[in-house]
Amino acid sequence: MENKRSILITGANGGLGRELLRVFAAAGFDIIATVRNLEIGFSDWCEELAGTAKNRIVIYEVDLVNAEEAQHKVRNILSEHPDLTDVINNAAVPYGATVLMTPFRDLRKVFEVNFFSAIAISQVFAKHLIRVKVGSITNITSISTSVTLPGMLAYGTSKAALEYATGVFAQELGNSHIKVRSVAIGLMETHMAKQMSAKSLEELGKQGVSRLIPPREVAAFVLSIVKSGEEESSCVYEYFGAT
Ligand SMILES: NC(=O)c1ccc[n+]([C@@H]2O[C@H](COP(=O)([O-])OP(=O)(O)OC[C@H]3O[C@@H](n4cnc5c(N)ncnc54)[C@H](OP(=O)(O)O)[C@@H]3O)[C@@H](O)[C@H]2O)c1
Repeated sequence: MENKRSILITGANGGLGRELLRVFAAAGFDIIATVRNLEIGFSDWCEELAGTAKNRIVIYEVDLVNAEEAQHKVRNILSEHPDLTDVINNAAVPYGATVLMTPFRDLRKVFEVNFFSAIAISQVFAKHLIRVKVGSITNITSISTSVTLPGMLAYGTSKAALEYATGVFAQELGNSHIKVRSVAIGLMETHMAKQMSAKSLEELGKQGVSRLIPPREVAAFVLSIVKSGEEESSCVYEYFGAT
């Protein structure tokens, strides 16, 4: 029988985050769910989900706005849960403004959450996974890494940097049985997509990307790649839902 796996998912209370929790719990994973702020409604929801799926879901508050602090917290989580085998860097912050209208402090903040914290978490996770000799790191990126869109300087470049880092990590960990992947998503039916400008949506439409993908569909796809073990350790998966 396959050993029980245990996964850490950031941004667990978001649109995709909740669907990831649902599909991974149903697939038998124990889950460490991290959120920026813990709200009672979310902990009740997790309790109900854990009861139905008969798995463990433990919630931690980890704000990703400071990568070093986030790394410290995840290191502590790993020492409390040494059975962790997988991580999904799912949390991210959207940001829309032209190059000329993007203040540096905002650009830095977007990178801190979307890129630096994901790297910080991956670093401590990779060290742990090298010791346990199994597991995966999955980074959620975006169609904005391959389609240049106006107003997407901060968000698009932070996701492009994360996608590049995925390849670097994967090559460096190539002989260690650890899978490092990114999943670039098109337009997904969550709060984040609702914040996109009409101009960006129009540009995406011109590229044939107009379908709002249900987050449950993306979550099922992410589960399938986390569970798969045969293919190359490094891969950028595109899930654009173009129609
Ligand atoms: N929706 C789309 O069309 C789309 C397209 C391509 C890629 N993606 C990617 O899909 C992933 C999930 O996004 P989503 O669509 O589910 O959006 P969402 O519903 O807005 O969820 C984003 C999550 O990130 C968390 N987060 C933001 N800032 C944080 C911080 N400083 N510290 C900790 N957590 C923080 C949010 O927490 P709070 O609730 O506390 O803010 C929330 O849980 C993201 O990586 C996003 O870039 C989305």
